Amino acid sequence: MLLTPGVVDQCLADEPLPWLGGLRASEFLRDYWQKKPLLVRNAFPALGELLEPQELLELAETDDIESRLIIEAGKEPWELRQGPFHETTWRKLPKTGWTALVQAVDHYLPPLADLLDHFSFMPEWRIDDVMVSYAVPGGSVGAHYDQYDVFLIQGPGQRRWQLGDICDEQTPRIAHARLKLIADMPVRFDEVLGPGDLLYVPPGLAHHGVAVDECLTYSVGFRAPPLSHLLEQVIDQVLEQHGTRTLFADPGRSVPTHPAALQADDLASVQSLLLQWLADPALYARALAPYLSEAKYPDYEPEGEDCERDDLLAALDDGLDLLRDPASRWLWLPDSQTLWRNGEVVDVPAEVGAWLPRLLHGRRLPGAALREAPPAVLDWLADEISAGFWLPVDGSDGEAG
Ligand code: SIN
Ligand code: CO
Repeated sequence: MLLTPGVVDQCLADEPLPWLGGLRASEFLRDYWQKKPLLVRNAFPALGELLEPQELLELAETDDIESRLIIEAGKEPWELRQGPFHETTWRKLPKTGWTALVQAVDHYLPPLADLLDHFSFMPEWRIDDVMVSYAVPGGSVGAHYDQYDVFLIQGPGQRRWQLGDICDEQTPRIAHARLKLIADMPVRFDEVLGPGDLLYVPPGLAHHGVAVDECLTYSVGFRAPPLSHLLEQVIDQVLEQHGTRTLFADPGRSVPTHPAALQADDLASVQSLLLQWLADPALYARALAPYLSEAKYPDYEPEGEDCERDDLLAALDDGLDLLRDPASRWLWLPDSQTLWRNGEVVDVPAEVGAWLPRLLHGRRLPGAALREAPPAVLDWLADEISAGFWLPVDGSDGEAG
């Protein structure tokens, strides 16, 4: 079972975390995060049994689920195919040397929300998804580096991971139209990971994972928005707020050195006027919340089922928990007490607002936490369930209830 009650609190209280090998979050963030790899044996033993290979391949056969297949000795070296795949695909493949990868498996598998809660030492907006790969013996995606941090966690089977050096655009690559594979990776680390073992790989670090036997590997992947995108949001917000009303003004002007020159002091005045706009601390939350809360798949529409307060109470009596819709991105702004989701601000009545920190504490809201909830909170949650933003799930193993 992946559900370890209290993991969010353990992260936030900076307690030693068994799944980080006993490191406290602050120690991990100081010494490893974005710096160097970390291997932890037996970090998540339950991942060995969470998902069967066949279930993953079925996800790769499903429309609207993002999946890939990489065959090392395919029609061309490192043949890359995009899903969805026909169910007969797999039996036509060789016995060795291929991998199927499915993105955002956390959107379909509620227990992975519990896995993600173990990473609550990072804000949710920095987390991208849980990708799961299935490989036959010898299967790999080739030696490569990623731009983003990743926690690789071994499910069933064994995978040999080799790590190299930090790479960049200058690192020599194998010629390939779409995969960025490294030509020659010096091996600085070489370990076989078994079920439940975890390997943190910082951005840019070359890695190569080859299946020893048939295996599943979970990748908790992070995202880091390009600064240029953040700037775009900020500028758009500034322009919306100020429009064209404010003009350049120069009441303290001095005599120019040359009438045809664009002078440094004029440029400095423009810079200082613009920086005044950018110095507004309230600007950034307003500008970035819609962007950072965009769903991973922007066309995503949740589907709910009609739920009234009494239905919710009955579900709670049955011991169900509520899972925040994992395919939606949730972003809470404590200063303005606003909740953003999938790019939009969520309408939260004042009485519910006071409960938000509790409701959003982890991805799973234990039914017991709602025992004292006032009717307004229950009504709001019932509406949210109807809209598909909270999912009633079994309180013991996270299966949909
Ligand atoms: C894999 O699961 O095969 C690849 C994961 C990665 O290298 O990031
Ligand atoms: Co990678």
